[in-house]
Amino acid sequence: MCGIIAYIGPKDGTSIVIDGLKKLEYRGYDSWGIAVHGNPSIAVEKQVGKISDFNDLDSLPGGRIAMGHTRWATNGAVTQANAHPHTCCTGKIAVVHNGIIENFQELKTELSSHSFTSDTDTEMISHLIEENMHSGMGFEDSVRLALTRLDGRFAVVAMCSETDKVVAARKGSPLVIGQGEDEYFIASDIPAFLEHTDMAVFLEDGDVATISSKPKPNITYTDFYGNRLSRKPTAITWTVEQAGLNGHEHYMIKEILEQRHTLKDAIAHPDQRIQRIADMINDAFGTFFIGCGTAGKVAMVGSYIFSKIAKKHVNVVVGSEFPSYHDFLTDRTLLVCISQSGETADTLEAMEIAKKKGCKVVSIVNVMGSTMMRTSDDYILCNSGPEKAVCSTKVTTAQIAILTLLAYACAGRLDEGRKLLTSTANRVNIMLDEQYLSEIQFLSKKVAGYESMYIIGRSLNYPMALEGAIKMQEVPYIHAEGFAGGELKHGPIALIENGTPCIALVANDEVKNEILINALEIKSRGGYIIGISPKDNDIFDSWIPVPDLGIASPIANIIPIQLLSYYTAVEKECDPDRPRNLAKSVTVK
Ligand code: F6R
Repeated sequence: MCGIIAYIGPKDGTSIVIDGLKKLEYRGYDSWGIAVHGNPSIAVEKQVGKISDFNDLDSLPGGRIAMGHTRWATNGAVTQANAHPHTCCTGKIAVVHNGIIENFQELKTELSSHSFTSDTDTEMISHLIEENMHSGMGFEDSVRLALTRLDGRFAVVAMCSETDKVVAARKGSPLVIGQGEDEYFIASDIPAFLEHTDMAVFLEDGDVATISSKPKPNITYTDFYGNRLSRKPTAITWTVEQAGLNGHEHYMIKEILEQRHTLKDAIAHPDQRIQRIADMINDAFGTFFIGCGTAGKVAMVGSYIFSKIAKKHVNVVVGSEFPSYHDFLTDRTLLVCISQSGETADTLEAMEIAKKKGCKVVSIVNVMGSTMMRTSDDYILCNSGPEKAVCSTKVTTAQIAILTLLAYACAGRLDEGRKLLTSTANRVNIMLDEQYLSEIQFLSKKVAGYESMYIIGRSLNYPMALEGAIKMQEVPYIHAEGFAGGELKHGPIALIENGTPCIALVANDEVKNEILINALEIKSRGGYIIGISPKDNDIFDSWIPVPDLGIASPIANIIPIQLLSYYTAVEKECDPDRPRNLAKSVTVK
């Protein structure tokens, strides 16, 4: 995925766009670029590297209509030529784009008389618009006609030096219009313009927004065929403070520590709302929990919680594998889609498949106005505020809390669920003190010296072992693997060497003795056991205490691994907020 921001208004568009790009950098950080409107030509500046490292604003052209892009490469290598914006042959049209144009080779062949300077699908769009303008069409109509030719998922913003108009459109990739006083913003995500306005229009698939700067900035909405649409802005509840670092060195640690309150925020939904969704789950004949990556592990832990509390079987499928299950879908099937961004392409595709089969869809999602939220039959927001570090932390535990509450509601024990989760939130708040952080930081110095590590758990904490491994892979780049404790002796135990760090998730539950035996099996082969548990044990070489939370133990157990991942990354001088090769939300398949 990539980040887009554009500005049309009376202020210095260049500095607003550069600032917005910095706020969107979590969406992509291999290269960036900006286009500033001018007549007769558009000035374009592009660079390989992170926008956060760029501070020479004076070197850029100034202007009141500007657009920028921060890239996470999909089509074409990370080079200056492939960075956006892309221009047509004459340089009069500039385009930024997020997504993938599936028929780009075909269209590029059609445009063989044009000269291309990059390997991207985006550049083709600028030539396609140019081609339409050659046939006498105006800029706006040329963009719309071009859009009707594109297959795939995309968010596109185009400007032309011959008009004062900027045209934005979406099909499958997010695009939000920020509406200020006589000024407009177009962005992939709200934090890019939140300090300027909290009024936003979330474009629907097939929407085109045209913003003119004259006589004063104004906007019109149409579909791809020019039919007028009415779109009204809604007020955004996220605040600028939530979106900032607020004195922390990195977003990742800020967001981990925010779990002191986000768990409470996650369950601050009225009983009726929770019960309504719980009733949908109870009424369904076949429920699927769907998510990708960390959200997939949340789905998995949710299935254990539903089995234990609601006595309900739930199918868990990762988004990308869901197409194989389409034969089992009926109009009584319910999909519960779990996602931080609400824009993950594989999860969205699962939703589309399910909807075609007449299934109902509920989403548990953090980003307000996201595609998943808007296209589900019902939704629950995680209420965690913006999560900007690429790896998910506070939203993970918020989603587990929501699923736990739903399981209790399905069992007709909502009050009991609320009590448990309120006490969980309080105890996590107490747990996260300075002493706790410094002990985990101390441990990270040992872990940082190893290339591999393993995490074991059973039952509810098996998915947390898998999630812990994702955290240790993606941030400090340690080859970590999670296993069900019982699976170890069927192969993976061969990997244990003298000193290999192994985390054992030992909750005070019915599988406690078994997981301790598994930890002992590792220790007997030289492994170094880090126990995450309410109680210390002789088997542990290091002990990270967590509160005894019963069914909510996955929440308590994953937080110390998030911290270990963060501190190990810092120890290894890896950037915790922007891990290599990753993007915050994966809007391509
Ligand atoms: C890992 C991580 C990813 C996401 C996955 C799904 O820390 O954040 O694995 O969980 O890309 O993203 P969302 O939740 O936005 O659907």
